[in-house]
Amino acid sequence: MKNIKKSQFQTADGSPTLYMEKFDEYYHSKHGAVQEAEHVYLKMGLEHWINLHPNIKKCHVFEMGFGTGLNALLTEQKATQLLLDIDYYSIEAYPLTPIELNEVNYNDYLGAKAKGVFDCIIKAPWEILYPVTTHFSLKKMNCRLENYIPEATIDVLYYDAFGARTQPEIWEDHCFKPLVDKLNPGGVFVTYAAKGSVRRALQNLGLEVALVPGPPGKREMIQAYRPLL
Ligand SMILES: C[S@@+](CC[C@H](N)C(=O)[O-])C[C@H]1O[C@@H](n2cnc3c(N)ncnc32)[C@H](O)[C@@H]1O
Repeated sequence: MKNIKKSQFQTADGSPTLYMEKFDEYYHSKHGAVQEAEHVYLKMGLEHWINLHPNIKKCHVFEMGFGTGLNALLTEQKATQLLLDIDYYSIEAYPLTPIELNEVNYNDYLGAKAKGVFDCIIKAPWEILYPVTTHFSLKKMNCRLENYIPEATIDVLYYDAFGARTQPEIWEDHCFKPLVDKLNPGGVFVTYAAKGSVRRALQNLGLEVALVPGPPGKREMIQAYRPLL
């Protein structure tokens, strides 16, 4: 997001994140950026889906809020580790510049191999599904959630918006509907939030909603599931 000041912040697990003054928001939990992403999106989201569907070898992940690309990077690692083909679609209203992205230095925390993949994620063209690695293709879309029309069905949905305190408009019922309507039977929705209004909105859209243990610093988070037909 050009001309909007962001500064780097080292989170409690040693991994970096960004702080955006405009919204007075961090891109990740101050208690640990990588720990939060691994817990909320990988463990409770993607790995939960894999456990439910051990024989499916292709997965469509959708992410609300591409941000620094951390969730995309960790998802690529899981795809490569498990030889699971993942198409990863992600929307972002305010893309960070390549310079800002390069400054978020995950490789000190995740190692040199991650750096190579992260470089590819940063350089991947926007608006096309681009093969980043053998098992991981990425489509980054510069688009506001409010205007986005999902194009394909979704197996795992990462809802990683800024908090309702600063952006209440993207936690309203009507924001979830177009995405959740595309969630396949057996599909999983995860977010770090635990708000009652979000739980009720997802239930009204036909999902089974659970509160599960949250990442460090957060007692609970939402994990939801589209029942099989
Ligand atoms: C919590 S951060 C996402 C962090 C990201 N998933 C990562 O791994 O670094 C929330 C993101 O949502 C983006 N955002 C804010 N409002 C949006 C909107 N209306 N539509 C799409 N993206 C939005 C912000 O610019 C920010 O990058």
